[in-house]
Amino acid sequence: MTTILVTGGAGYIGSHAVLALKKAGYEVIVLDNLSYGHRELVEEVLQVKLIVGDTSDRALLDNIFITHNIAAVMHFAAYIAVGESVIDPAKYYHNNVTGTLTLLEAIVSASINKFIFSSTCALYGVPKFVPITEDHPQDPISPYATSKWMVERILSDFDTAYNFKSVRFRYFNAAGADPNGLLGEDHKPETHLIPLVLLTALGKRESISIFGTDYPTRDGTCIRDYIHVADLAQAHVLGLEYLLNGENSEVFNLGNGSGFSVREVIETAKQVTGKQIKIVECDRRRGDPPILVGSSDKARQVLGWHPQYPSLNEIISHAWQWHQQRHG
Ligand code: UFG
Repeated sequence: MTTILVTGGAGYIGSHAVLALKKAGYEVIVLDNLSYGHRELVEEVLQVKLIVGDTSDRALLDNIFITHNIAAVMHFAAYIAVGESVIDPAKYYHNNVTGTLTLLEAIVSASINKFIFSSTCALYGVPKFVPITEDHPQDPISPYATSKWMVERILSDFDTAYNFKSVRFRYFNAAGADPNGLLGEDHKPETHLIPLVLLTALGKRESISIFGTDYPTRDGTCIRDYIHVADLAQAHVLGLEYLLNGENSEVFNLGNGSGFSVREVIETAKQVTGKQIKIVECDRRRGDPPILVGSSDKARQVLGWHPQYPSLNEIISHAWQWHQQRHG
């Protein structure tokens, strides 16, 4: 059986990728320092081997690669809060860049050359055009986005120097939960719109804040491209198989190609949950571009990726099912 090392497999997107890998017949080992991830998710729900440790622990990494016959690495482990990264950039550069560099050096030393990287559409900065294609200029506006941009540069240089092959996925807004209710989104603290709206519907929060109502969009609120986490996970399996087939390094956007405003998300959540959701209109949040919508034509054409759950209603329904189970 082909074994894949998944860093950050105890987190939101990583755990869904582990599930997709298992379903596709791969053996999975998770490396996670559990600073934000969930042990029980890996050990009880997914039932795969968990190694608790950090990507900056070179001795641990060397030991993993000596002990296990790893064919490729999927790297999800990273800090993800855009706002926090502005206040504490050192935390982000240390973990997301130097931690990843240590991991990459260990992988190269172990003569492995296949790597799937969790990148972000945030590296495009404020879009000059939409839908955003992979060749859109890159101009990250937060340390979080810059840390992902830096790793992408490192990966290009590693390819040139060491024949190191990577697939880099630039996600738009990951959302939803496993359609069978096995996994879901559980960040602490939670900052993302859809889970916050659903926690409000559950009565766990009093209201949902809308950050900015004066954007140049159809209803004044920010527009985002929400992509189902199970569709993201499936793209990772396809990206892995692309590299295992001997293909070259590539970068792909992963989104649905259509955008929904904050108000539209809240309205859809009201329909899905049948609950009243109290709204508080607030000032803009720093660093939020008015609209982020991506073109994923390349992933569709090159990888044969076809999102199974493109509807916002379905994305929110799956998230709602999981939240009710978890907190209801
Ligand atoms: N929003 C609100 N109220 C809230 C939370 C969010 O109005 O309580 C708004 C935000 O201002 C934004 C939209 O809802 O306009 C979506 O916000 P999220 O925080 O859910 O997601 P972001 O678009 O800010 O960021 C997410 C990931 C990043 C990633 C980025 C790429 O968290 O890691 O998508 O688009 F880089």
